[in-house]
Amino acid sequence: MKKLAILFLVAVLPAGAYASGGHGPKLDPVNIDLGDKASLQRGARIFVNYCLSCHSAGYMRYNRMGHDLGISDELVKENLLFAADKVGDLMKAVMPAEDAKKWFGTAPPDLTLVARNRGPKWTYTYMRSFYRDDKSPSGWNNIVFPHVAMPHVLYEWQGNQRAVFKTENGVPTFEKLELERKGSMTPEQYNEAMRDLTNFLVYLGEPAKLERYRIGVFTILFLLVFLVFAYLLKKEYWKDVH
Ligand code: HEC
Repeated sequence: MKKLAILFLVAVLPAGAYASGGHGPKLDPVNIDLGDKASLQRGARIFVNYCLSCHSAGYMRYNRMGHDLGISDELVKENLLFAADKVGDLMKAVMPAEDAKKWFGTAPPDLTLVARNRGPKWTYTYMRSFYRDDKSPSGWNNIVFPHVAMPHVLYEWQGNQRAVFKTENGVPTFEKLELERKGSMTPEQYNEAMRDLTNFLVYLGEPAKLERYRIGVFTILFLLVFLVFAYLLKKEYWKDVH
């Protein structure tokens, strides 16, 4: 019995410690809604304009995305096709991975599955947690991704943030981020834009989800219609019995 208890402790305790998150930075909740097409379309626009220069979403084709998000091939061509020639192309980065590696010291990873691996909260918080850091090669650092090689590509929208640390027992601990120069968006607008972008990144990781929603609706409709016929049939059968 004692052995079992120890085994239990060994198996469960580390998981508990991990789940409580230790001392990692706080992640902010984000309202993910794959049924919100307008939000997904706005997110797609940001992604294509500001992320595809360095990152790929190499498992997604432009026309598949257009179809899922309710954007016609013509509109995809006019508004979203900067990094490719044909709507049937995969969403590849503009910058060759080797060049990016030379520039940033590390290749920007493919973003197809990033919201799935890191989680939507992490992704949302990451995009809002860049701050100025003169010691970093790009001039930027990030609270949830210390020493990140990615520069803050949306600083014109958000403005410049400064990280405030307080020293506890000689150890600097992060306290808060402060806006030291305003961007073109208010903090609320920027949060809303990052919610759209995160929503889109969640969609990228699981485009089949939208398809599942559609199939789910049709299945329920079918069952309802079927119920009517089943009921009529039952009435017909039992008519002569009574
Ligand atoms: C100028 C090039 C560049 C642009 C543009 C860029 N990134 Fe990055 N990004 C990088 C690099 C380089 C890394 C790798 C950082 C590292 O490992 O230190 C990275 C890492 C990331 C990560 C972390 C991935 C992980 O799990 O490790 C996310 C998320 C991300 N980028 C999202 C975005 C989004 C969203 C956009 C568009 C708004 C964007 N990036 C635009 C260069 C870029």
